[in-house]
Amino acid sequence: MDINGKAVLVTGGASGLGEATAVHLASLGARVAVLDVQLERAEAVAQRIGGIAIHCDVTDPDSASAAIDAAREVHGVARLLVNCAGGGAVRRVVGRDGPMPLEDFVKVLNLNLVGGFNMTRLAAAQMIAAEPDEQGERGLVMFTTSVAAFEGQIGQAAYTASKGGLASLTIQLAREFAQFGVRVMAIAPGIFETPLLGNLSDEVARSLADGIPFPRRLGRSQEFAELVGHVAANRYLNGEMIRIDGAVRLTPR
Ligand SMILES: NC(=O)c1ccc[n+]([C@@H]2O[C@H](COP(=O)([O-])OP(=O)(O)OC[C@H]3O[C@@H](n4cnc5c(N)ncnc54)[C@H](O)[C@@H]3O)[C@@H](O)[C@H]2O)c1
Repeated sequence: MDINGKAVLVTGGASGLGEATAVHLASLGARVAVLDVQLERAEAVAQRIGGIAIHCDVTDPDSASAAIDAAREVHGVARLLVNCAGGGAVRRVVGRDGPMPLEDFVKVLNLNLVGGFNMTRLAAAQMIAAEPDEQGERGLVMFTTSVAAFEGQIGQAAYTASKGGLASLTIQLAREFAQFGVRVMAIAPGIFETPLLGNLSDEVARSLADGIPFPRRLGRSQEFAELVGHVAANRYLNGEMIRIDGAVRLTPR
């Protein structure tokens, strides 16, 4: 799709990969709604790019629905949903203090998998009801998964399962939405320099970078954002997940 002039929703757009995506898509002429639980930070991003910021908890059906409707009021129906909201916690399934509390697992599944699905079902319903473009395309949904979907590390059970769930959904949803001209794609980042990783010491950052074949450094948010722009532009990409990781393969720990 030609992103220029299109309405776009970026969840998790207040920080990291989502923020860079919001900025990049705006530079391509998109009308961007920055959806996040961190409203102040979302507002700062929106102000920089001439977009709008809307409070949205992706896990909450009412909040998500209200945010998508509020964005439509200003920009029209969103033709691109970029799901970047997400996160995780490190905890062994059976640690020194016994089995992981079930709610720890459910919380991460709820944020990444249920949250991504929640936004998708609501945004896709509006895309499907809208007019197609001259090539029959009505919209695009993108997930941010992780290389952890394939190489889950010790302590990442919940995160791995949640990203694996999104990875599996990509082809399923692409099939289900194909008749409406809505594509579904996923991007699996390797190790990117964002607030999610916390403030890494130089030493830790260097040791992480040493495990990445080439380029021997952490990924830059801009590189992720440019891939989002390419996936939007290239209509033949559908139902697939693209790794962007400098050829890294995560080790068990
Ligand atoms: N940084 C990496 O190395 C890396 C690697 C693989 C995958 N990812 C994935 O990329 C995505 C973005 O990560 P990031 O590194 O930019 O992290 P980040 O912490 O910088 O940004 C995540 C954003 O999501 C928002 N958010 C959290 N819960 C939310 C909710 N319930 N509703 C709405 N917004 C919510 C946060 O407020 C934050 O702005 C995540 O899904 C993460 O799992 C990141």
